[in-house]
Amino acid sequence: MKLARTYAFIKKDLSVIEETLEKTVYANQPLLQEAATQLLKAGGKRLRPIFLLLASQFGSYRLDQVKKAACSLELIHMASLVHDDVIDDSDVRRGKPTVKAKWDNQVAMLTGDFIFATALQQFTEIDNPKAHRVLSKTMIELTVGEIEQIKDKYNLHQNLRTYLRRIKRKTALLISSSCQIGAIVAGADKATEQALHNYGYYMGMSYQIIDDILDFTSSEKQLGKPAGSDLFQGNITLPALYAMDDQCIRQDLQTAFFDSENLDMSLLEPITSQIAKSDAIARARQLSDAYLQKAHNSLSSLPNNEAKEALENIANYIGNRKI
Ligand code: IPE
Ligand code: IPE
Ligand code: MG
Ligand code: MG
Ligand code: MG
Repeated sequence: MKLARTYAFIKKDLSVIEETLEKTVYANQPLLQEAATQLLKAGGKRLRPIFLLLASQFGSYRLDQVKKAACSLELIHMASLVHDDVIDDSDVRRGKPTVKAKWDNQVAMLTGDFIFATALQQFTEIDNPKAHRVLSKTMIELTVGEIEQIKDKYNLHQNLRTYLRRIKRKTALLISSSCQIGAIVAGADKATEQALHNYGYYMGMSYQIIDDILDFTSSEKQLGKPAGSDLFQGNITLPALYAMDDQCIRQDLQTAFFDSENLDMSLLEPITSQIAKSDAIARARQLSDAYLQKAHNSLSSLPNNEAKEALENIANYIGNRKI
């Protein structure tokens, strides 16, 4: 199933958000304007606005409020991507040159800051302190997650717990907050808000696990961003963690990472393809599936409606996604 078919009934509202996004990133400065619009126009799945919109259907839906919140969440995601591409030294995103590649790291740093600030400016329109608390906490956690990843680069002595904590911070919380803020903005009751938060959290965990799998199994052409680069960057993600149960792979990685300043690609490339062919991929999928099942279960207390059906379909889509 195509992602767009899962939420056809909110398509009109999503196009309103798209227009708002374009207006919001307007900058009275040509370079910032071009750099910020470049990523926006390059596309993207707009998952966070979709989650927010769907979650807000469980309360009293008001497009004017929902649209501002959804726009803010997508902007925060975009800003984190601009910064992430500096951190990961990535030249392609959404099939286009990244800000850091087209300009440089300095411009990317400021473009990311500009988009973050624009998101916050937009969010001031939300008159609800709890929504602000949830959002700012998430932004703090996202930053902590990204910096912990830097700290743990090339460290082969990580375990599943540290990996899960990191992806919770850098990815899952923004998705759970998108769902929760949707519920808050629509004035949904506490139990509904909690159920949607949980759904988003589990979806987010699965989402990053699949992203980490695709980095091993997919191609730049398919993903619109570099593939096979996590390991080259020293990022030990779930497939690599599982693969290291094989002591030969662990030993090979240790040798390849010996001089992280001058990585020998001829040593790393065969390890990457070995991991891609190993059972580590299936094991990582199993964990992603377990989170998806939990996401499904989180919805069970919610009333049956179109939005719930869409959230269920998105969970199925995420599990099988190729991009
Ligand atoms: C990419 O997010 C970063 C991760 C959290 C894995 P998306 O896969 O949602 O990226 P876009 O917005 O569709 O480009
Ligand atoms: C997610 O991690 C990035 C953020 C949370 C900002 P990745 O570094 O794996 O994301 P991609 O693969 O570059 O999209
Ligand atoms: Mg990254
Ligand atoms: Mg990255
Ligand atoms: Mg990735």
